[in-house]
Amino acid sequence: MTRILKIGGSILTDKNQELAARQGEITRVAREIASHPEDVVLVHGAGSFGHIPAKKYRLPQEFSRQGLRVTHSGVARLCEMVVEALSQAGVDCLPVHPLSCLLLLDGRIDRFFIEPIKEMLEGGIMPVLHGDVAMDVAGKAAIVSGDQLVAYLAKVLQAEVVAVGSNVDGVLFSGRPLPRITREELKQMGSAIGGSAGVDVTGGMRGKLLELLDLADLGIDSLIFNAGKEGNIARALKGEWVGTRIGRTN
Ligand SMILES: Nc1ncnc2c1ncn2[C@@H]1O[C@H](COP(=O)(O)OP(=O)(O)O)[C@@H](O)[C@H]1O
Ligand SMILES: [Mg+2]
Repeated sequence: MTRILKIGGSILTDKNQELAARQGEITRVAREIASHPEDVVLVHGAGSFGHIPAKKYRLPQEFSRQGLRVTHSGVARLCEMVVEALSQAGVDCLPVHPLSCLLLLDGRIDRFFIEPIKEMLEGGIMPVLHGDVAMDVAGKAAIVSGDQLVAYLAKVLQAEVVAVGSNVDGVLFSGRPLPRITREELKQMGSAIGGSAGVDVTGGMRGKLLELLDLADLGIDSLIFNAGKEGNIARALKGEWVGTRIGRTN
């Protein structure tokens, strides 16, 4: 029973300040994950380690060799911190850098060598992926968001739990988290669901929802929840709907 958990960069970093890790939150999140680590694939956001350099070098609209290197090395550093915190909490895990094992076509994952991820799961090792820069066969290079990785992996691994943690209580409408949302409802809400309050080049809440609605179309429901509230990660991993459920229009 594979479970895909994403922890947003909004939790692990201060998204308005470059390379600003929230070490206390990284440690807490690692401890919560360590309480239910079985068959979990972890994806973390790029936060200020990725979005700020990406914006500075105008990725993905422009092809900047330096921008690719700087952005990747930022997110790889954050990944190292997450892996270290998980190890300290007793979780056997390994980093998997998307740049080195997938190819995009027009910004969408086209090919992804996921066999190492499957072997890690078989061997009781938690793969730790992250939002990253990636080569794009159509336009030299682009960005692959943690949210896109979640939807792709959930589909190919037929995940039973898909939980996307961010810094809000779910998809908010009139200030309150919706219990459930479908594509039809998103259309009706218009601009009430937007981008990020922080620096986020992959579309904030709207970008997240669009990825997860594609997944819902395939029959896999997912959850957007607040990973900043103690206890929620463990609940989400157990399959509780502690936020907004993203489902298919019936
Ligand atoms: N209707 C909405 N409900 C919740 N969040 C929203 C909404 N509209 C915009 N947002 C913004 O989207 C942010 C979450 O997306 P993002 O910053 O990309 O998080 P993450 O780093 O977890 O991917 C929220 O913090 C909020 O600023
Ligand atoms: Mg985001």
